[in-house]
Amino acid sequence: MLVIKNVLDAKMLQALRAMIDEAQFIDGKKTAGFRAKRVKKNEQLARDDKKAKEVKRRVLERLRLHPEFKSAALPRRVQSPLISRYQPGMEYGRHSDDALMGTEPRYRTDLSVTLFLSEPDSYKGGELVVSSSLGEQKVKLAAGSAFLYASGNLHWVAPVEEGERLAAVTWVESYIRDHGQRELLYDLHKVCRRLSRDAADWLETDLAFKTYSNLLRRWSEN
Ligand code: NI
Repeated sequence: MLVIKNVLDAKMLQALRAMIDEAQFIDGKKTAGFRAKRVKKNEQLARDDKKAKEVKRRVLERLRLHPEFKSAALPRRVQSPLISRYQPGMEYGRHSDDALMGTEPRYRTDLSVTLFLSEPDSYKGGELVVSSSLGEQKVKLAAGSAFLYASGNLHWVAPVEEGERLAAVTWVESYIRDHGQRELLYDLHKVCRRLSRDAADWLETDLAFKTYSNLLRRWSEN
């Protein structure tokens, strides 16, 4: 589980929220899986809305370009995001995300991403809660920041009591299926970047990069 800050800057957020204001929302149940339908009570931007398409395109682009996201998720495919809205009384009850999504050939969901689009003090409730072996983690981030977590974890969105919660959610099929392997690569990548900055000429820096590349070569799936 990881927080990725500043996926969207203030200017981009403002532009996206203005577009979202003009777009059409539909019942979120339309895109929910068999079991999730029971508990999903929110709204989403209509799939074929022109403004919605532009919002999704920009969100996807920013996310894919973010260096921390690339390093942590090692994304092979990122689904076009859903833009969801929760008004007072709305929530998304406990569920896990479908393992395979999209049209044929479908893709595996390794990681789920929630990108917060509303400032946390503009609504009450509405925390994303992720339940794992470490317990329950409640997440409510600054607008423009994203939370990345394993799609197989049970999770839910607590009821919104006041205000409006806007978020973009999407899923990642990673080149690295195994969460432990992906974490090793993420840490090692950090070491490599630091060495590259502070010890550019060391043989050991080349060895660290070599090791990173060879682990990626050994573990990545296509
Ligand atoms: Ni979910």
